[in-house]
Amino acid sequence: MGKYSQVANLIKEKGNVIAFTGAGISVESGIPAFRGAQGLWEKYDPEEYAHINSFVSEPAKIWCMLREMIKLTFDAHPSPAHLALGALEKAGFLKAVITQNVDGLHQEAGNTNIIEYHGNMRNLVCLKCRKKIPLKQEVLTAMPYPTCDRCNKAMKPDGVFFGEQIPISAIEAAHEAVENCKIIMIIGTSGVVYPAAEVPFQAASRGAAVVEINVNPTPFTSAVTQYFLEGSASQVLPRIIDELGLKLSDAQP
Ligand code: OAD
Repeated sequence: MGKYSQVANLIKEKGNVIAFTGAGISVESGIPAFRGAQGLWEKYDPEEYAHINSFVSEPAKIWCMLREMIKLTFDAHPSPAHLALGALEKAGFLKAVITQNVDGLHQEAGNTNIIEYHGNMRNLVCLKCRKKIPLKQEVLTAMPYPTCDRCNKAMKPDGVFFGEQIPISAIEAAHEAVENCKIIMIIGTSGVVYPAAEVPFQAASRGAAVVEINVNPTPFTSAVTQYFLEGSASQVLPRIIDELGLKLSDAQP
């Protein structure tokens, strides 16, 4: 039996799947991953650009990078991989998506239990008074950066920067999802950013079967992965859906 049928059978037998996703799932949506040739971190050093201290001291500089990132996410649509996860939830197999992504594409693909480990780009937040406002297209023209109308300070997208806390609600929800899952699918993440990268290890240590989808092996592959499906998420996930007799159009965007 091929690996794809094995994974499909596993899903049918065990149910209760969770997905742990990273930037690789959005590559086919037109958003390059952070690390690697086209990645944002090739152009911008994350130590310099993605640390909260840099944002506080030089918001204008960081907003140049953020505008680029926000524009990419505004222009993006769910990939076949996102839709496959939507279909997997609709069929009752997928119980939660724990994502490190801030692009909102899992929501657009119809998933409903999405745990945003690194926050999101739906809102802007003032670091002084914590006021939140929706992040709209207009921020792309706010120069040198959008400011809080209460304290006139720079506003920051509600995504997690290095040096910031992971939202407690996300940690708790991820913990609960991991406790209950029978299968974890690790999709398109390099597994180098902690504490997020602990999630697959926690699931594995609780006895979950580990399926990994990536174009390259990662630190998870030799440590916990049982089924490594090499390839682009937008090719691999639709094949699994097909093996299960489901269709991408089953997703409810
Ligand atoms: P990375 O850019 O570190 O890794 C992307 C992963 O996706 C790599 O393992 C690639 O091999 C894989 N990949 C690329 N194209 C793919 C495709 N078409 N199909 C499947 N896999 C593919 O992105 P993340 O692991 O998400 O955090 O990065 C983790 C965190 O680092 C991000 O959330 C962000 C970043 O700094 C913060 O900003 C806090």
